[in-house]
Parts: sequence; C-alpha cells; structure tokens
Amino acid sequence: MNKTVFITGATSGIGKSCAEKFAENNYNIIITGRRVGLLEEVKKELENKYNTEVTTLCFDVQNKEAVFNAVALLPATTVIDVLINNAGLALGRDAFDEADITDWETMMNTNVNGLLYTSRALLPFIKKTKGHIINLGSIAGKEVYENGNVYCASKFAVDAISKSMRIDLLKHNIKVTSINPGAVETEFSIVRFKGDETKAEAAYKNYIPLTAKDVAETIFYCASLPDHVCINDLTITCLQQANATLFNKN
Ligand SMILES: NC(=O)c1ccc[n+]([C@@H]2O[C@H](COP(=O)([O-])OP(=O)(O)OC[C@H]3O[C@@H](n4cnc5c(N)ncnc54)[C@H](OP(=O)(O)O)[C@@H]3O)[C@@H](O)[C@H]2O)c1
Repeated sequence: MNKTVFITGATSGIGKSCAEKFAENNYNIIITGRRVGLLEEVKKELENKYNTEVTTLCFDVQNKEAVFNAVALLPATTVIDVLINNAGLALGRDAFDEADITDWETMMNTNVNGLLYTSRALLPFIKKTKGHIINLGSIAGKEVYENGNVYCASKFAVDAISKSMRIDLLKHNIKVTSINPGAVETEFSIVRFKGDETKAEAAYKNYIPLTAKDVAETIFYCASLPDHVCINDLTITCLQQANATLFNKN
C-alpha cells in the first residue's frame, strides 16, 4: 500500500515542492493551505503527472477549530505516515520598538500555535503508524539576528517543540525531525516584505540561494531512512551562507 504524507502550506515554496517530491515517490498526498484555487491547481498537476491520490484541505492553521474540523473530514480509514508542519511565515523586518504588533501576533499564531494545533489533530493518525513528524524550523530558530525578533522567537519555539515532541513521543516510536533552512528562494520574502518585490529580490541578490526543491529533497531523504534511524535536527544552507547573517556575496 502507498504511504501517505500530510503537508501544511503546500500552495507554494517548500510545501509545494515536498508534495511533488513525495508524489513522484508514490506517496498519496494530503495538502493544505488557505488559497483554495492554488490547492486545486497543485492537486490537478500532481494527479495528472503521477499515479497518486491528492486530497486538499483548505484552512487557516491559526484557527484551532478550523484545523480540527478539517482533519475530522478525513475518512476514518485514513492512514498518515508522515506529517510535514511547513505552513509558516515572516512578516516585516523591523526593530523591536518599531515592529507592528499585529505582525508579531500573526507570526506566533501561525508558526507556533498552528504547528501545535496541527500536530495534536494529526497525532492519533501518526500514533497508529508509528509515523514521522517533520517540523520546518529555520536557521532563525538557531541564531537571533537584528530585526528578526519575533520571527526568530517563533522558530526558537519550533526548535523547543521539536525537542519536546521527541522526548514525549519516544514511547510511541514516533520520529521527530526538525529541518532548519537558511535562505530559500520562495514566496517567503514577498510575504515578509508585504508584496514589495524590490526588497524581496534584494534578499536573494548576488548569491545562489537554496531552492524549495533542495529542501524538499532533503526532507524526503529524512523520511526515507530505515525505521530505526532518525535525523533529529538538520540545518541546511546554500554554499554562500555560513550562519543566519553571514553571506559570501559575489
Ligand atoms: N524561504 C526561506 O528562506 C525559509 C527559511 C527557513 C525556514 N523557512 C520556513 O519554511 C516554511 C515554508 O516557507 P516557504 O519559504 O516555502 O514560504 P512560502 O512560499 O511563502 O510558503 C508558505 C506556505 O505556508 C502557507 N501558510 C502561511 N500562512 C498560513 C496559514 N495561516 N494557514 C495555512 N497555511 C499558511 C502558505 O499557504 P497559503 O498562503 O495558501 O495559506 C504557503 O503554502 C515556513 O515555515 C518558513 O518559516 C523558510
């Protein structure tokens, strides 16, 4: 029987690339996001290209009821082997005393609460399969940088949650992997800079950043290891990035 992966935030970037990579490798896919049109496009594209079954669930991970109601729509026979907690965002890059407090709330509600709600809603499925939870942290969850304040805090929280999950779920033989990318060229910076394409492009200028495919292939590798092997924590950057802030630009 094909395995099944549940991916949050699969309408673009890393989540969408993960959907493609797992579909290519005969997984059935459950994809989520808020943009229903894009979810349907991804579903059509993957079903046409691969011999896979794609289910879409449209909800906002910030909304606890919406998360649990969406998961309740899955047939009772659903089997889930891998959960990729990928939905997330940065909003703004402003000093602590100037940043928009609503941006802070959205980041914490999405990156932290959304991940918690989704994990709890999916755990009954993951326990049954002794499955694998893969959380998208960030290099920003390893080192704080100037004007990164609450985005960094949200990803430090993801780091702590991954470590806690690994301890508390040990008795269930559930794997927990934290993936911490450096700069990846996706819609991430367009979202962070609220549609300002000049600022977004500048974030990836004069070096070769990671692609969403690079990260998806790494995630797939982690999910494909033998049952007794678990990569706990993996930080990945492009060649020209040494840490959260230091780049060797051309
Ligand atoms: N790109 C980077 O440089 C980088 C580096 C380190 C870590 N990361 C992390 O990697 C993850 C994926 O980011 P990405 O680079 O692929 O960005 P992206 O292209 O902007 O994709 C983000 C995805 O998250 C979904 N999402 C955002 N808010 C959501 C919400 N409230 N409810 C449901 N879905 C939501 C979006 O879907 P909808 O808009 O359709 O809801 C989209 O599919 C994030 O957790 C991010 O923090 C990114």
